[in-house]
Amino acid sequence: MTPPRPIIAPSILSADFARLGEEVRAIEAAGADWVHVDVMDGHFVPNLTIGPQVVKALRPHSSLPFDVHLMIAPADPYLEAFREAGADHILVHPEAGPHLDRTVRRIRELGAKAGVVFDPSTSPDVIEWMMDEIDQILVMTVNPGFGGQSFMPSQLPKIRRLRAMIEASGRDIPLEVDGGVTPETARLCLAAGATALVAGAAVFTGGPTTYAANIAALRG
Ligand code: DX5
Ligand code: ZN
Repeated sequence: MTPPRPIIAPSILSADFARLGEEVRAIEAAGADWVHVDVMDGHFVPNLTIGPQVVKALRPHSSLPFDVHLMIAPADPYLEAFREAGADHILVHPEAGPHLDRTVRRIRELGAKAGVVFDPSTSPDVIEWMMDEIDQILVMTVNPGFGGQSFMPSQLPKIRRLRAMIEASGRDIPLEVDGGVTPETARLCLAAGATALVAGAAVFTGGPTTYAANIAALRG
């Protein structure tokens, strides 16, 4: 059986911020599946990026799902604003609030897919009792906050563990990897059971004329 085609989600953190609309159109034309948006608050992570207004401004530039990775604490007060701005998937870190199950249920009530993100130090056990509530899982293979960091192979066993938990749930939950993904590390992640790959530097380095080849290289 041929493995399913991996989902590619370019992280616009590595795009040219002066031309974000064009960049989003360019990655869609180059074959991207989702647009990954890294939202950082300078508090939960040591970097500041974008908020709902930028998501809203980008929304007319793409028909792809917007995969919105919230690295903010608290996240709950902003869920509705990101959903209204056009987020299709909203991903939260368990450490960003006291009640992960409540947060995930709220994301679903708003009509978005709810994702849980695992920092390198976070155990898969966090979601053991809420597998029916989760639409997506993201494993960080760097510490969150910056693009262009090196992949952490220590997270591969966690990808395998989460793959086993997904199989046991009987549900079709995308298993996404984020951080230091290159054509080489992508192979390792896919072999461990990942089905979706976030990539910033590996897609955007080289400029728009290289995006299609960069995305194809990640698919292998
Ligand atoms: C890091 C972000 C990532 C990052 C990926 O906190 O969540 O999405 O932008 O960038 P690369 O692929 O360059 O490691
Ligand atoms: Zn991300």
